[in-house]
Amino acid sequence: MDSILIQGGVALQGKVRIQGSKNAVLPILAATLLVGENSLIRNCPRIADVYAMISLLRSLGCSVNWQENALSVDTSAVSRGEVGSEAVTGMRSSLCLLGALIGRCGEVVMEHPGGCVIGQRPIDMHLSALRQMGVVFREEGCRLRAVAQRLRGAHIVLPFPSVGATENVLLAAVLAEGDTLLEGAALEPEITSLCRYLQCCGASIEGVGTGRLTVRGGSALHGASFAVPADRIVAGTYLFGCIGTGGSVFLEDAPWEEMTAVLEIAERMNCRLCTSAEGIYVQAAPRPAAVNFIRTEPYPGFPTDLQSVALAVAARGDGDSLIRETIFENRFRVAEDLRRMGADLKEQGVDSMLVHGVETLRGTLVEARELRGGAALVVAGLMAQGETKVTGCRYIYRGYENICRDFRELGARVTGA
Ligand code: UD1
Repeated sequence: MDSILIQGGVALQGKVRIQGSKNAVLPILAATLLVGENSLIRNCPRIADVYAMISLLRSLGCSVNWQENALSVDTSAVSRGEVGSEAVTGMRSSLCLLGALIGRCGEVVMEHPGGCVIGQRPIDMHLSALRQMGVVFREEGCRLRAVAQRLRGAHIVLPFPSVGATENVLLAAVLAEGDTLLEGAALEPEITSLCRYLQCCGASIEGVGTGRLTVRGGSALHGASFAVPADRIVAGTYLFGCIGTGGSVFLEDAPWEEMTAVLEIAERMNCRLCTSAEGIYVQAAPRPAAVNFIRTEPYPGFPTDLQSVALAVAARGDGDSLIRETIFENRFRVAEDLRRMGADLKEQGVDSMLVHGVETLRGTLVEARELRGGAALVVAGLMAQGETKVTGCRYIYRGYENICRDFRELGARVTGA
């Protein structure tokens, strides 16, 4: 089922539960390697990236089993850090295996990690930080070998709050000799979740939730049971789907405390919101107001992962909006397909898009080229008149458990084909 068919023009109505977070669960699954015992990771989303991570863990000798929505992961049998090739090249988050395996085995051999085709996505910060902890890297064709004779804590200052580099330093630091002080760490909630899991396993980490993390290396770790928080990006996608179609929905379990910048944009789109311990109630205007300016930023700013979806909704906005992408280059790939649906989008330099809102988009054949851009096309299809077919949906299934089911629960006419 690589396509999704949408009969658009239906205002979303009803309630949908938000799945567990992709970006939280992947580094946590990597972190189970440090423990060498059994962990139970609850509220684990059944998405393609999780299945890929399960294959990688199994290729390392781990026993991984589903127990309803929880994953039981036993990493006691891991002895060598040689990572199977297939899943690595397709998934950038497999990069966090580097820090975890260096901590566990002292040596890692893996394919050069890939991920979505957005920008170049270099890994220089990961390598430089781990080098400061005593890791030596060698390129062997397409493979990367990392060896640490003695993994030791260090004082590391990141020049930019990279999410992945922060995760790798944390993972390597937990079993290193001595303390690590990491400054300029990313503030994303997924980093906090990783720290909380590691703390549940016995790790000593101070400064959680700040840009200055101190890890006391060498604590004895044990397995733990941990619930993955809800996915703020999935919640944001469905929120924008509601705004784009002029609907009213309840997003059950949506982590609104982590969505301040997103909710602010939603309100500027003329949407009424009500948050409670159970989730977010959303009442959208028939047509979204133009937002004037959205700029993506590291957390707590507006997330780059929701930029394409916000762009799709702004395309139907009542007026002009300017959207600026500051995190990744090449993240306006969705613009070409949105234009085919009738959106009026003009590039402004390399990183900005001027959106002149149109009253209606029209359904047509479009192609998902990466995860979040693909979700944006599904949202555009919900807003459009007539039928939209989105191909290339394997990208979307990397991060959304069942986007068709979820939008159908909200009354949309959506089928996988
Ligand atoms: C993570 C998220 C991704 C999100 C991104 C930014 C996961 C699995 N993925 O990706 O969904 O869009 O955070 O919030 O959690 N950079 C370098 N050198 C490096 C590392 C990064 O130049 O060594 C650059 C990247 O090219 C990019 C920026 O820094 O321009 C942000 O990257 P980073 O925060 O590392 O994102 P990821 O961890 O890859």
